[in-house]
Formats: sequence, structure tokens, C-alpha cells
Amino acid sequence: MHILVINGPNLNMLGIREPDIYGRKTYADLCEFISAQAEKENVAVEFYQSNHEGGIVDKIQEAYGKADGIIINPGAYTHTSVAILDALKAVGIPTCEIHISDVNAREPFRSISYVGMYAEKTYAGYGFNGYTMALSYLNEKYGK
Ligand code: DQA
Repeated sequence: MHILVINGPNLNMLGIREPDIYGRKTYADLCEFISAQAEKENVAVEFYQSNHEGGIVDKIQEAYGKADGIIINPGAYTHTSVAILDALKAVGIPTCEIHISDVNAREPFRSISYVGMYAEKTYAGYGFNGYTMALSYLNEKYGK
């Protein structure tokens, strides 16, 4: 089982950006946290973070035929990017969407999710745990 974990814009600023919303732990802490769970479940994880929509689209396309699952927190592109939605549909890889914060309890524009129109599951408001919940879900359903 090979899972690609994609984090979109400003998630490299975890620990610094709006700590009241996103917490004080860093992007490196997040990767470590996910890796620990992946090791327990014998899942191979690859991490990718980009502040650029096209970079994320390229990475999703490259995952075709390689990744068995995608875990994606598209950051602000969640609410705007038809291109990322289309890339996920193009490769057809099982996908879970993550938001560290509870997007539905924030500004109304954060309730719209394009990626959510493709993702099998959305975990929002569970902090870093959303990523490991998604990992276990994908591994249970598609793990081999
Ligand atoms: C986020 C929520 C988005 O609305 C925001 O633009 C982000 C992070 C989250 O993880 O809660 O960058 O995806």
C-alpha cells in the first residue's frame, strides 16, 4: 500500500500561521506523526507540499499507476480549484480530503469544497488526527 499525502498552500507554515486555529506543531511534526502511524500499519507514505496549484496537479498526475491512495489537504485551493478536482478524477485514485480546522464552522466560503466532490471521505476539525484517520480508512479498504 502506497499513499501520497499532499498538503497545499500555507501548510508549510504550520506552527507559525494562526496557531489558535491550526495549533503550534509544524509541518515536519505533521509528517512525523503520519509516518509513525504508517509504520504501524505497514503503509508506505510519500509527502508532497506545494504552494502552487499546478505543482499539485502535476503531482496528482504523476501518481497515476503508482499510488494506491491519496490524502489531500488542498488548503485554500479546496474552495477554488476545479483543476485539482479534475486531476483527481483523471487518475481515479481513492482519495480522502483533510482539513485541520472545522471548515464548516468558519467563514461561509470555506464550506464549499471542489475536492470534496470527488473525495470518498472528508475529515475536518480533527487536527492532525484527520490524516491518520484517513490513512487507516484507505488502508483498511484498499490495503494489500
Ligand atoms: C485548511 C482550511 C482551509 O480553508 C484553509 O485555506 C487552509 C487550511 C485546514 O486544514 O483547515 O489553508 O484546509
